[in-house]
Amino acid sequence: MVAEDPARRNTGPALELERVVKSFGPVVALRSGSLSLHRNSIHALIGENGAGKSTMVKIMAGLYRRDAGEFRLHGESVDFASTAQSKNSGIAVIYQEPTLFPDLSITENIFMGRQPVSRFGRIDRKAMRVEVEQIFARLGVGLDPDRLTEGLSIADQQIIEIAKAISLDASVLIMDEPTAALSGVEVERLFTVARSLRDEGRAVMFISHRFDEVFALCDTVTVMRDGAYIATQQIADTTVDELVRQMVGRDVTELFPKQETTVGEELLKVDGLTSPGTFHDISFSVRAGEIVALAGLVGAGRSEVVRAVFGVDGYASG
Ligand SMILES: Nc1ncnc2c1ncn2[C@@H]1O[C@H](COP(=O)(O)OP(=O)(O)OP(=O)(O)O)[C@@H](O)[C@H]1O
Ligand SMILES: [Mg+2]
Repeated sequence: MVAEDPARRNTGPALELERVVKSFGPVVALRSGSLSLHRNSIHALIGENGAGKSTMVKIMAGLYRRDAGEFRLHGESVDFASTAQSKNSGIAVIYQEPTLFPDLSITENIFMGRQPVSRFGRIDRKAMRVEVEQIFARLGVGLDPDRLTEGLSIADQQIIEIAKAISLDASVLIMDEPTAALSGVEVERLFTVARSLRDEGRAVMFISHRFDEVFALCDTVTVMRDGAYIATQQIADTTVDELVRQMVGRDVTELFPKQETTVGEELLKVDGLTSPGTFHDISFSVRAGEIVALAGLVGAGRSEVVRAVFGVDGYASG
């Protein structure tokens, strides 16, 4: 456990990594990772695939130990040998796909390994339930604390992990691509929760490949490239173009040069395609020489339409 020095509480960073190095045999996953997380702030960590973001997270989570560099929590140097040490020091990591125990209740999952005991030496179920109800009420979550976690959506499972973090009074919350498998409504709920955690004085870190989310949610942003720190900026002072330039190390126009093409004849035409309960009245055409995007939220029916067009699934009309 790292005791918090009250004098540092409101001044220094909650968590700092400085020139952290991590290799796996010949593979250098992290050449020089640096990051400063502050209370009352949501900090984005961005970079291309393989930039070293998750390696940073795993060092903070106590899954990996760094080879070199500094890692400080509330100003004190730490070196976690286990995930339990990281958790007990107030760091909570929410992964893209949480791993809850499906045959235990929500409450049991939240109190896994640390059930409160009544004065008769029994596990105090009532106290656990009351605490979970209070946390859910604060988060505006309408889940039944007694239900099993089996069959819960990924979004709900993440909320349970967050409730666990609150119950442990974590001062640092780290979310590694939490929104990748969420629908629009679920992302909004997660953001509301993340903002209230920030406003309670916690430090929150958010990893995402989606710029709209980074700009909507975060206060500061750190860019990484090839396992190294590139820059940290206030979100209000930067732009998507600038961040992309920092991520890839060259101009965006060079990255996606617009190519002249001649659009030719219609090759595929979908007209009024309908499969009751799945999709309704879908029409589009694809012509030679063009790339057509089919956009929508998770669950909007994009995959189902394409499966029907391809012949994997049937359709009723159109
Ligand atoms: N356990 C490991 N053994 C070997 N190489 C690893 C290991 N973990 C990560 N790497 C390598 O280290 C580099 C950084 O990986 P990391 O997962 O940290 O990237 P990332 O920024 O999280 O990427 P993504 O956006 O795809 O999640 C990659 O080249 C990866 O292949
Ligand atoms: Mg990753």
